[in-house]
Amino acid sequence: YPIERIRNFAIIAHVDHGKSTLADRMLQVTELVSERDMRAQYLDKMDIERERGITIKAQAVRMPYKSKDGGEYLLNLIDTPGHVDFSYEVSRAMNACEGAILLVDAAQGMEAQTIANLYLAIDAGLEVIPVLNKIDLPAARPEEVAKEICALLGGEPEDILKVSAKTGIGVPEVLEQVVDRVPPPSGDPEAPTQALIFDSIFDAYRGVIVYARVVQGRMHPGEKIRMMATEFEGVIDELGVTSPEAIPINELGPGEVGYLTAAIKGVGEAKVGDTITLAGKHAAPSPLPGYREPTPMVFSGLYPVDSADFPDLRDALDKLQLNDASFNFEPETSVALGFGFRAGFLGLLHMEIISERLDREFNIPLVTTAPNVAYTVTLNSGEVLKVSNPADLPDPNQIDHIEEPMVDAMIYLPSEYVGAVMQLCEKRRGTMLKMDYLTEERVELRYRLPLAEIVFDFFDRLKSSTRGYASLDYEPADMQVANLVKVDVLLNGEPVDAFSSIVHRDKAYEYGKAMVSKLKELIPRQMFDVPIQAAIGSKIISRETVKARRKDVLAKCYGGDISRKRKLLEKQKEGKKKMKAVGMVEIPQEAFVAALSLG
Ligand code: GTP
Repeated sequence: YPIERIRNFAIIAHVDHGKSTLADRMLQVTELVSERDMRAQYLDKMDIERERGITIKAQAVRMPYKSKDGGEYLLNLIDTPGHVDFSYEVSRAMNACEGAILLVDAAQGMEAQTIANLYLAIDAGLEVIPVLNKIDLPAARPEEVAKEICALLGGEPEDILKVSAKTGIGVPEVLEQVVDRVPPPSGDPEAPTQALIFDSIFDAYRGVIVYARVVQGRMHPGEKIRMMATEFEGVIDELGVTSPEAIPINELGPGEVGYLTAAIKGVGEAKVGDTITLAGKHAAPSPLPGYREPTPMVFSGLYPVDSADFPDLRDALDKLQLNDASFNFEPETSVALGFGFRAGFLGLLHMEIISERLDREFNIPLVTTAPNVAYTVTLNSGEVLKVSNPADLPDPNQIDHIEEPMVDAMIYLPSEYVGAVMQLCEKRRGTMLKMDYLTEERVELRYRLPLAEIVFDFFDRLKSSTRGYASLDYEPADMQVANLVKVDVLLNGEPVDAFSSIVHRDKAYEYGKAMVSKLKELIPRQMFDVPIQAAIGSKIISRETVKARRKDVLAKCYGGDISRKRKLLEKQKEGKKKMKAVGMVEIPQEAFVAALSLG
């Protein structure tokens, strides 16, 4: 296919708005997959994805297409992940395209994530084709939603394509528009090779499969390649395209999208956003712009419920990392929970996916500590620390100041809830950046908020204060100085590291109190009183006591033998000491889990 016959495009859609269904339908319209062979949702490969209905990994599919005017085209559909945690992956996939379909559920309307991804597409200079989906639904309100779209994109509501990915109505017209409106790629085949990695997937048999878009130059099997950021070097074993099964080919040239294997052991060697070039004299002098190291934003301790599982947990984490370059971990020990790992994730959903996979694929029951963010701590000595575990925060007297990560959040909501959402954002230490009425009923709010506040059940609160109508998307902003303190929880006078948390000073009292009373409910009575305290440094800010089980040992001593009585009392005191030394042992695992889920 000549380059002017190629069309590279992505589909931007909110979760459940029908991206996979539309992609499936396209495979049918282009006769790549017959109705009979059609597995539901061909493009989603992982089981978890299928069950949860989310797309985690982007992939590409090549579809030869004969347009209505008889021209033969090559359409490359690049599938993008659909969640806020993966926006960098989305932006790379968009950079591999010239066009994007903006797919909006005609019953649900726009969502923050759709808008955020739309901005990514506009930033990448893509031609955007808006499409309304699910017009077969009785609840569809295509006119209204079309107006919302036009408020963002311009254009006339009646020009927007209206389709049902489910029944197939309107899908051929979408492909026609892709051919007509998406510009063909360009690129010099003779220039030094540069290809953008937009996805890489671990395969146990073949090593990593790298999905890339050639920007200029060419690639052939047998050539020696180099990843410009990771400096991985290897020889291309197989070069191919997915259509929809893998088909090996002999050359990939400018504008083309395909995959390669090169005995790459883990996805950490072929990271999304990296540039592939040829090793040696055809090497490109510089990489394509926009590469970014994946940065974990949310951290959590992962501890095996049964400490005998620790080596298995390590193996499992190693395996997952081969598959996911954006997640990292290091061993950590907790007084309360024993041996485990501190893991860093892109966000909350990413964290959930990983812990679910550990549970499901590796069968390792875990205790996951409350998620937290990473702080930059400057000590009085001038030393600067990165703290991703609250328990590691130094003594307050040593700290000069603490910085916390901020995000720019976009909230998209019906105008009637603006007041409630502003209140929530203020309470969460947010600063309003912008408020736009896209239509009379729809508002786009932008706030700068501490990531820690978002990690702390912000999403649930947002949903409950808007009856589920608001949607949220955010991207990392800078670090900001804040008046933060560590609240420790002490049981029987001993700090329990797993319960330490870093919170804003103004909220420390409230937080400490909530944590202490929650623990009081969860900890069963012991042989002795167990004081539960919340403290900032050496200052106790809240206190409760789990009263001892009543057991009157003296009642047994008939006759009032004083030495016997004393002996018994002595014994009991020793028991107390022992309990104290053993400390946490008397606390059931469930109490831990329940208390951690509070914070
Ligand atoms: P993610 O993979 O999570 O991003 O979701 P998705 O956008 O790919 O959505 P998917 O294609 O899985 O569709 C979500 C649900 O909407 C499924 O139950 C589909 O059957 C349904 N659906 C998709 N398109 C249509 C449509 O045109 N009409 C109706 N009635 N339902 C549709």
